[in-house]
Amino acid sequence: MSTFDKHEFRRTLGAFTTGVTVITTLDAAGKRYGVTANSFSSVSLDPPLILWSQSLTSSSYPAFRDCERFVVNILADHQVQISNQFAKSGADKFQGVAVQPGLGGMPIIDGCAAHLECTKVTAYSGGDHIVYIGQVERMHRAPHRPLAFGEGRYMVTFAHDLGEVLGAGGTTTGLSGLEAVRLAGAALPEICEQLGQRTLGLAVWGNQGATIVRWEPSSAPVSPYLQTGVVVSLTQSATGLAFAAFMRPEVVQAAVERELNTRAAEGQADDGNFSSRLAEAREQGLTRVVGAAPSPRHKVTVNAFSAPVFDANGEMVLALSTTCQAERLEPDWDGAVPEALRQAANRLSTRLGYKGAR
Ligand SMILES: Cc1cc2nc3c(=O)[nH]c(=O)nc-3n(C[C@H](O)[C@H](O)[C@H](O)COP(=O)(O)O)c2cc1C
Repeated sequence: MSTFDKHEFRRTLGAFTTGVTVITTLDAAGKRYGVTANSFSSVSLDPPLILWSQSLTSSSYPAFRDCERFVVNILADHQVQISNQFAKSGADKFQGVAVQPGLGGMPIIDGCAAHLECTKVTAYSGGDHIVYIGQVERMHRAPHRPLAFGEGRYMVTFAHDLGEVLGAGGTTTGLSGLEAVRLAGAALPEICEQLGQRTLGLAVWGNQGATIVRWEPSSAPVSPYLQTGVVVSLTQSATGLAFAAFMRPEVVQAAVERELNTRAAEGQADDGNFSSRLAEAREQGLTRVVGAAPSPRHKVTVNAFSAPVFDANGEMVLALSTTCQAERLEPDWDGAVPEALRQAANRLSTRLGYKGAR
């Protein structure tokens, strides 16, 4: 055991994402106790049994050891503060927390995703913890999303929605654009890290053209004015160029021509090379814009790259873009940032079931 790495054990267990509960009880004198616990699990449906385990060093251990009942309060995703409050020994943990009396007067915390009122049926010793088994007497489910905990931090949950579209090879097929946005949105923090903390944007083809639907600001955001719902230029922005270069021409062609014509009418020449820019982008697998000024109020000059994400049918569903102050983002096609962006977009395409160009 001396060679067993406790830190590594904790880190490994962190790969198992759980919900978060606060287990509450009363002692014989009517004093309230509560501890944050993510060791909660279901045990049996008939009879209805659950378990949770408590550290023997916990100061509330004697109260739970001796109690006859407890309540499992399954926290909702707005209750991080309550989780933190009940995870600290000492001061009155119930301070400012609204509770209702349940069976036997046990405290039930208001606003939870669910609660289970239990009688304690048995307890087992488990190393430095004790495992309590509770029989559920009464329960309630509320329409709140549960709070989650994994990799040592709080998380929020959303439906994966991939069940019916998982193909035999484990890849996904036929995902709608909406699900693609969810999948890519969940991956944004990790991609931002892989790109050395550069601002990321996700765009879809909306009814007005290339539309930004998500931003993942970096630790040094390119601008405080990152807005969603913005429709970007198909000829001047890296994101728009990605749709112009990689989306089916029937979808984008008319909008691209309208924009080129408008620019020409305003005397802004196409510098004769729009089609060669598209050809270059197709060759590189991504688009770029060098030295752009997004708008006067942004007061920065940026470089940007954008890579297409394709679905199982080979249709472009998203543009994954990165933009950064020009001095922090080399404009070279083969720099580390565009390469990481290309790879991140490819990984998303693979997860969406894309098998390569047809
Ligand atoms: C997310 C999270 C999950 C926790 N899970 C458990 C658990 O399952 N069992 C446990 O004994 N302590 C767990 N803790 C730590 C206890 O909440 C903490 O030791 C306890 O509240 C100490 O208070 P006490 O001295 O009043 O008992 C957890 C803490 C956090 C933040």
